[in-house]
Amino acid sequence: MAIMFKSTFDDPVGWQRYLNEYGADVQLRVWPDVGALADIEFALVWKPEPGDLKRYPKLKVIFSMAAGVDHIFLDRDLPKHIPICRIIDEDLTAQMSEYAIYGVLHYHRKMASYADTQKEHVWRKFGRGDTPMTRIGVMGIGQIGGDTARKLKALGFQVSGWSRSPKTMPGIDTFHGEAGLKSFLAGSQFLICVLPLTNATRGILNRNTLALLPKDAHLINMARGAHVVDQDLIAALDSGHLAGAMLDVFEKEPLPSDHPFWAHPKIIVTPHIAGDLNPRTCGQQVAENIKRFRAGKALLNVVDPSAEY
Ligand code: OXD
Repeated sequence: MAIMFKSTFDDPVGWQRYLNEYGADVQLRVWPDVGALADIEFALVWKPEPGDLKRYPKLKVIFSMAAGVDHIFLDRDLPKHIPICRIIDEDLTAQMSEYAIYGVLHYHRKMASYADTQKEHVWRKFGRGDTPMTRIGVMGIGQIGGDTARKLKALGFQVSGWSRSPKTMPGIDTFHGEAGLKSFLAGSQFLICVLPLTNATRGILNRNTLALLPKDAHLINMARGAHVVDQDLIAALDSGHLAGAMLDVFEKEPLPSDHPFWAHPKIIVTPHIAGDLNPRTCGQQVAENIKRFRAGKALLNVVDPSAEY
């Protein structure tokens, strides 16, 4: 039996190696050369081609090659009865937290100003934020956001978290739902977005919500580009309300070369590198699920299709 592999950048060789090593016993078929459609029992995908997944008559499980699954739910012809599993991986989580912590410290310790003064050979101090008085808000406190929040708390920042439904975390102030959003945003000098992209969160960072952030706040978006309304973010930066944004994800990727984010003096653009899947650890996880499926056991990390994450 075979697993269909479709990704714009992940390396099929590494995945095949670790799927074998961890005993999945499947042949990797790299899309579009998938051979006989009836051979495909599993799909391992990042941004599957819309309409493709419904072509495999014996497809049993879809594996997202990402923590997020929005790229799969975009497919209007998605076969609804097939379970979807996402990646929950310690290494990926740690990388994402690293990115957020780097972003916070970059701004908090004014590193861009030192890069500028070094170019001019100027010895000048810019001061720094007062860490215990600095409030960070993490939007989305699941596996990744929860880790980010805990690590920032350990560095001495005040940290709060926001989620759609109520959650508690030791040492972190938590807010939830529409009712909690206003107070959460008002207390976020750094806003870190790690939300899943769903119909409920698309465009959640818009003119109205960005206006609720304190003056001179910074945004770090490592979730999905579609959480942000691009022109509203640019307006909030240009008006001087927001001080900066570090963006790893974009509505259209690669970010088109004429997109205004590239040249904006208050925006740092990175090419979706906050977290990269490690085929060793993630291959083990997918192999485990394939073995579970064959043994009739419950799958791990199954997505709730009604919540879309
Ligand atoms: C993910 C990503 O969802 O890397 O894992 O974007």
